[in-house]
Amino acid sequence: MNVPDIIIAVDGFSATGKSTFAKMVAKEFGFLYLDSGAMYRGVTLFSMENGMIAEDGAIDEAALKAVVEDLDLHFRNIDGKTCLYLGERCIETEIRTLAVSSHVSPVSAIPFVRNYVDRKLRAFSEGGRVIMDGRDIGTTVFPNAELKVFMTADPEVRALRRYDEMVEKGETPVFEDVVKNLAERDYIDSHRETSPLRQPEDAFVMDNTHMTLHEELVWCLGVIQGKFGILEAPALSW
Ligand code: CDP
Repeated sequence: MNVPDIIIAVDGFSATGKSTFAKMVAKEFGFLYLDSGAMYRGVTLFSMENGMIAEDGAIDEAALKAVVEDLDLHFRNIDGKTCLYLGERCIETEIRTLAVSSHVSPVSAIPFVRNYVDRKLRAFSEGGRVIMDGRDIGTTVFPNAELKVFMTADPEVRALRRYDEMVEKGETPVFEDVVKNLAERDYIDSHRETSPLRQPEDAFVMDNTHMTLHEELVWCLGVIQGKFGILEAPALSW
């Protein structure tokens, strides 16, 4: 099936499986996948490593503002996987820890941080045929995206998925901490002043609480076929 050169915006709450879904769609249809959350995590890691976040969580905004525009955060494709780099250093593993997760939402609520990330994301997407996931992609970064998906799932299922993901990576998270972190981030992300997490009015909503990945792919194909009037039978690779 011929999927046109469109921008697909995927938004939703924490750990709803946005990146898994977006990566799968990117691979299936030959799209560039961009993880906007990784950029916010990258800015957060940089701030933590450079003493800009105090133990009580207070952020030295003046110090961050002075350097943020010079941060060389970018993605590289390593063996088919998109990895975030800070200059020449791969920070893909470091940005996924619970420590970074616990500071990322306050950092990403800062307007000048959002400006920096938005500008980078738009530059990375030049040329189109991009699928990007985040919290404000369909509302702020690409309000004219041709296809918008809003993902949701039951909170317990989301927490369990994130917990399993961390255990698989060799971490030893406490389940209650994961639950707490997801709830806190959902709250801050939905209530911040600049670009809060919202379901775009023109988004297709997917509740994947009881869906397999294959069902998600079939769902996506159906939406694309319906939206773009593609009549031919879809050929899935799996
Ligand atoms: O993977 P997960 O859903 O846990 O989060 P993420 O996509 O890695 O995003 C981490 C955090 O970055 C979110 O909790 C938001 O605070 C922030 N974020 C944002 O504000 N706007 C985006 N477009 C993407 C992420």
